[in-house]
Amino acid sequence: MARILTGIQSSGEQHLGNLLGALGPAIELSQKPDNESFFFIADLHSLTTLRDGKMRRENTYAAAAAWLAAGFDVEKNAFYRQSDLPEVNELTWYLGCFAPYPMLANAHSFKDKSDKLSNVNAGLFYYPVLMAADILLYDADFVPVGKDQKQHLEITRDLAQALNNAAGEELLKLPEPLIRDEVKTVPGTDGQKMSKSYGNIINIFGPEKRLKKQVMGIVTDSTALEEPKDPDSCNVVTLYKLVATPEEIAEMEANYRKGGYGYGHAKKELLRVLTTRFAEERERYDYWISRPDDMEDILRSGANKARPEATKVLARVRESLGFGS
Ligand code: ADP
Ligand code: TRP
Repeated sequence: MARILTGIQSSGEQHLGNLLGALGPAIELSQKPDNESFFFIADLHSLTTLRDGKMRRENTYAAAAAWLAAGFDVEKNAFYRQSDLPEVNELTWYLGCFAPYPMLANAHSFKDKSDKLSNVNAGLFYYPVLMAADILLYDADFVPVGKDQKQHLEITRDLAQALNNAAGEELLKLPEPLIRDEVKTVPGTDGQKMSKSYGNIINIFGPEKRLKKQVMGIVTDSTALEEPKDPDSCNVVTLYKLVATPEEIAEMEANYRKGGYGYGHAKKELLRVLTTRFAEERERYDYWISRPDDMEDILRSGANKARPEATKVLARVRESLGFGS
């Protein structure tokens, strides 16, 4: 039995890029009979950038609803909110005392923002230590993450090794990253990587009207309707290829090449495929988002499943470091 663990920040609604790039592949892994998954909402991490408590709670529910809508099996696995297990904060402290300053100063999550140090809080600096604690607290075997998180996994392994060296035994399990580079970067409506921070997202779980507005707003060139078009250089087609069937893709490419088919037609077709392919997910999202109390129950029972693991690991670490009796 391998333990798969991953977290997503509660930084807003989950978009098509998150669904295809992170939620989908992680859920697929969790469906293998030999895997047991610990997936959580990293709400403590979100405090490094988001101070509004009401927003955090909303984002947490939006993230939970997205995982549930995407089909994560919360009976077989553990689905919890990071902050419901405050044990993680204690391990963060222990690990932090083994983290050399330059290692944290070199982390991209800090370095990329360090040109304006007055805007950087200590939480942002400590971000990778908390992430290491997230992983090591549960003896995770594999951690599926995007390429951007590779360095954080290296830090996690370094910290685990440092504690193991000090203890002279395998106190903490060294996790293996599962880096998803096979999943292509999903482009946003402007052609750049789809990201909450670029305002170019397709809210796949959102109301149809907004989804339509986002799809119709995909940036294209100004080739006239009657002219033939190049499917390989069009953003609408790139997105379509990620969600349509091979037959549908071939048909759209042929329509582009022969002319008389406008970008408006292509966008409407993309919208049709998005709403049909994700119809169930969209419906399930609406169901869950309107039932926060039920989501609370799920998160609470997930925390109850995760807690014994956390308690066990923490007892090992406390004992080894000479804390307690
Ligand atoms: P955002 O850039 O919108 O803030 P996050 O950083 O919260 O997204 O993304 C969480 C995970 O979702 C990432 O680690 C990555 O694996 C995946 N992801 C995000 N955007 C995309 C994208 N455009 N294409 C593919 N995967 C993505
Ligand atoms: N830092 C990760 C991200 O932004 C989220 C995260 C927090 C995480 N803790 C984790 C991912 C532990 C994997 C394992 O995407």
